[in-house]
Order: sequence, then structure tokens, then C-alpha cells
Amino acid sequence: MKKVLVSPSILSSDFSSLYEDVLSVKMAGADWIHYDVMDGHFVNNISFGAPIIKSIAKRVGLFCDVHLMIEEPLKYINDFIDAGASLVTVHLETIDDKKFEEFLNICHKNNVKVGLSIKPNTDVKKLDKYLKNIDVVLIMSVEPGFGGQEFLTNSLVKIEYLDKLRNKENLDFLIEVDGGINDKTAPLCREKGVDVLVSGSYIFKAKNREEAINKLKEVGE
Ligand code: DX5
Ligand code: ZN
Repeated sequence: MKKVLVSPSILSSDFSSLYEDVLSVKMAGADWIHYDVMDGHFVNNISFGAPIIKSIAKRVGLFCDVHLMIEEPLKYINDFIDAGASLVTVHLETIDDKKFEEFLNICHKNNVKVGLSIKPNTDVKKLDKYLKNIDVVLIMSVEPGFGGQEFLTNSLVKIEYLDKLRNKENLDFLIEVDGGINDKTAPLCREKGVDVLVSGSYIFKAKNREEAINKLKEVGE
């Protein structure tokens, strides 16, 4: 099975010692760090914004994976780029073609990678026309808003569809999956061709975080 990257979601970390907690998953072998930004409109929860990311992302020094679950991503995107984002992922449900062009231009101008995400009930084919222009597709395998939910298996069909399409059309975006990822669900995603596993509660609640990350990376090898 091909190599996979692991991006721990800090939503499940201890916010009272956020920097130390993020550092601990870096030491445990994390490849990226996943920052879940929620506005209480696009999803039923509020998490944190650019200042929190700014205060730790550069200090931690890992690839900064920003997942914007917000109604108006373009209004705030420069704040997240300024905070140190390496990749900004916005939801397809929040943009139209014109906004996508604008999103692309801002990211390219700032040398930031471009990601598009879809919720569990959004048809994966709606991504087709954007695929040649983006770096990452983020498939939500839970309803966005909260950590600790159960993995939705309809995401496996989407991962498989995207993997086949990129092989057929020679595209090079990465496929990332987010929600309910643990040692049982990670191999299912990997079999379908996923490249990046986001995982919050499984990693942050593990007694041994290094072991947890290794399990996500090693299964099936
Ligand atoms: C959900 C977030 C996820 C979440 C994952 O809206 O996008 O990144 O934190 O948490 P777990 O791995 O616990 O499902
Ligand atoms: Zn996320």
C-alpha cells in the first residue's frame, strides 16, 4: 500500500496547552497539522480563527493545513494566509465559479496550496470541473462541526471515484479524508487511494500518540 500522510486535527487537543500538545504530535510523527476553523454558520459550532493559528503554526513549523468551515471564506482568507497557512481548503458548498477564480488567484499569488472540500451529502461529481486546478480534495467522512463522530462509509466511494479519475486523466491532486479516522477506518480509505488522513480524537486521546500515528501509517503494509 502506498505511503500516507497523517494530519492531526487540533480540535481534539487540550487548548489550555495548545502549543505543547501540537508539538507532541509533531514529535510523534505527524506530517501536517490540521486546523479546523468554524464560524457557527456553515456548521453548528465555533472553534477558533486566524490569531490562534498564527500564534502556533510558525513555531511548530509543520505544513499548516487550514480547513475553513465558514460561510464567507474569501472575506477572511488573507488572515489565514498571513497566519502561516500552507494549504487553505474551502467548502465547495460556500463558493461559486467566480469566487473559485478569486480563491485560486489569491492562493497562487501567495504561494499557498488550494484545497476544496465537500460535505457527506454533496455529490462528488460536482468537484470534477475544479480538479485540474487544485492541489487537494478533502472528503468529509462525518458531518462537519465536531470531532469524535463515526466514520460515514459513503466517503469510500468518493475516494475511489477521485482516485480512478486522477489516474485516467493524469491529474495530480491529493485526496485527503477527514472525520472518524482510526486504525479500523484508515485501511479502508487507504485501499481506495487516499493520500492524507486527518485524525483528531483517535490521536489526541491515545495513551501513546506515536503508536497511534504509526498505526495509521502502517496498516496493511
Ligand atoms: C470536523 C473536523 C474534523 C474533526 C476530526 O468538522 O473537520 O477535522 O476534528 O475529528 P475526529 O478525527 O475525531 O473525527
Ligand atoms: Zn477538518
